[in-house]
Amino acid sequence: MSKKSRLDLMKMKEKGEPVAWITAYDFPTASFAEQAGMDMILVGDSLGMVLLGYKGTVSVTMEECITCCKAVRRGALNTFCIGDMPFMSYQISDEDAVYNAGRFLKEADMDAVKLEGGRRVITRIKAIADAGILVMGHIGLTPQSSGVLGGFKAQGRDPKSAKDLIMDARAIEEAGAFALLLEAVPPELTEFIAKDLSIPVYSIGAGAPCDGQLLICGDMLGLFQAFTPKFVKKYANVAEVEIEAFKTYIEDVKTGKFPEDQHCYHILPETAEEYQKMLEELKRK
Ligand code: KIV
Repeated sequence: MSKKSRLDLMKMKEKGEPVAWITAYDFPTASFAEQAGMDMILVGDSLGMVLLGYKGTVSVTMEECITCCKAVRRGALNTFCIGDMPFMSYQISDEDAVYNAGRFLKEADMDAVKLEGGRRVITRIKAIADAGILVMGHIGLTPQSSGVLGGFKAQGRDPKSAKDLIMDARAIEEAGAFALLLEAVPPELTEFIAKDLSIPVYSIGAGAPCDGQLLICGDMLGLFQAFTPKFVKKYANVAEVEIEAFKTYIEDVKTGKFPEDQHCYHILPETAEEYQKMLEELKRK
């Protein structure tokens, strides 16, 4: 399967064909996602929590993001990959934002970047788009500013905040973003925005009526145990499988069931006699 382009994503929107994408932060997950036929991969700054065990995304650095993006690209050469801009990589100035967005493309071969926020970061989105870099907007529940939002809470549930999000969405499209991600907003608002904009609009916890769905790999695979948001569907319980495998391995080592003969490298048969003689000679008296 060939890598999707921005135009393919636009065509999928026009045809009403939903895009399926997940986050990935490492080589094996990216490779499995590509083998499964995933349309896109986001190397989210959720890597801080899912991969590195941080309590949030705020402390994630550019270097951590770039390292993970490189690993994902090596695992998914033919998948449209998006690098997530971490906190403080675009908040200070347009110049900073363009420089850091460029790093995702130059150093990690990402196809696009994503950043959080609406009208308050609109000059950043425009500057990145004007530099010729595909940029995706992200509004609704924006984890990097969860403190300002009062926690990890659904957004746009009342008319005033919903109108604000519609204005943000329109500004993001006008600034030159190639797509928009809505997080944790009501499906009615998602449907309105998806129909209102000409660029693709994707959902994570924002319901079905839009152009595609994103889930965090740690959530949908059952790897991330700290908490599971309401919008997650678990497709596997990998943590349970891993813990069971580790327990069995420990038991096998303790009881001498592992390793078996099949797991051992044997002496070259033609040197067997000489080998035994050498061991005998070197035995401490
Ligand atoms: O970092 C991430 O995985 C994200 C999703 C929460 C959308 O930005």
